[in-house]
Amino acid sequence: MSTIILGIESSCDDTSAAVISDGLLLSNVIASQKVHEEYGGVVPELASRAHQQNIVPVVDAAIKRAGIDKSDLSAIAFTRGPGLLGSLLVGTSFAKGLSLGLRIPIVDVNHLHGHVLSHFVRQSPDDIVPEFPFICLLISGGNSQIVLVKSYRDMEILGQTIDDAAGEAFDKCAKVMGLPYPGGPHIDRLAAEGDSKRFKFAKPHIPGLDYSFSGLKTSFLYTLRDEVKKNPDFIPENMADLAASLQATIIDILLDKLDKAVKQTGVKTVAIGGGVSANSGVRSAIADYCERHHLKAFIPQRAFTTDNAAMVAIAGYYKYLDRDFCPYDAAPFARVTM
Ligand code: KG4
Repeated sequence: MSTIILGIESSCDDTSAAVISDGLLLSNVIASQKVHEEYGGVVPELASRAHQQNIVPVVDAAIKRAGIDKSDLSAIAFTRGPGLLGSLLVGTSFAKGLSLGLRIPIVDVNHLHGHVLSHFVRQSPDDIVPEFPFICLLISGGNSQIVLVKSYRDMEILGQTIDDAAGEAFDKCAKVMGLPYPGGPHIDRLAAEGDSKRFKFAKPHIPGLDYSFSGLKTSFLYTLRDEVKKNPDFIPENMADLAASLQATIIDILLDKLDKAVKQTGVKTVAIGGGVSANSGVRSAIADYCERHHLKAFIPQRAFTTDNAAMVAIAGYYKYLDRDFCPYDAAPFARVTM
């Protein structure tokens, strides 16, 4: 009999449900919440309400698209943290209710493990997945980490941001440029037409493998403030060059630490994950770096870079195989490490 896992993701502003059968993806449905755009960031209370509205139709669609009946499910995996507590509560409570109704176990998933394990979601039995150990550069709106992945369950954080995440650097600078939230994809689009060498922004000098992005944000802000004083149209006139230079600086910062981590560990495989791994510049820089250093690169399909339930289902699948189920009194965590 197949092991069929329903995954539920509700940690931030995407409600998602996915079905995985013996590690093979059958469906992955995502409802993104547009309600936050006008506020320039995610409003937690609105996110919880939207999850509440979305969760039943999203789960229903995932089960239908998978071509299964809910009675076929072996277990329900859900994101327990980190994330927004109100949002996580919706997914957690829904998973508990459905599991009680179907009399199947629940499996709690660390969202960060999910991002790392998104590389194990197979869409075809021939899909190649990373071999352990590998390094995963986890770059999202809430996290920037270099993770040494030793097995499905054993992950060690080698370095992480001491302030802003890479995605925050994209989003906060984009906001100053007057771009909509989230700004990362807009910077990506503009950067393709800009001169990445035109502007120089400050790079951090943090020892070891930790990152910092708040200095870059300040440096970006000061550059703009001085230029706008001289020419009020400076930002609109220089959007593409600003975007390209910002993106190139973020990539430099990421690659510098990744290179140190690769040399320190001697691993031969590098993967990237999280929303920022959708960035075209980041993707090609990582691919180039790996080619130059004879490393295997795992660059996820864009659908699996931002929050999605396929990664939750696959992480839950491996926990399910270990019979590591979650008790019903489990509450979500706003913060949690690996
Ligand atoms: O992983 P994610 O969906 O959510 C969490 O933070 O968990 O990541 C969202 C982040 C946002 O900061 C967004 O701007 C960034 O990923 N992002 C991008 C791109 N697409 C999404 N940043 C740069 N370029 C992109 N193409």
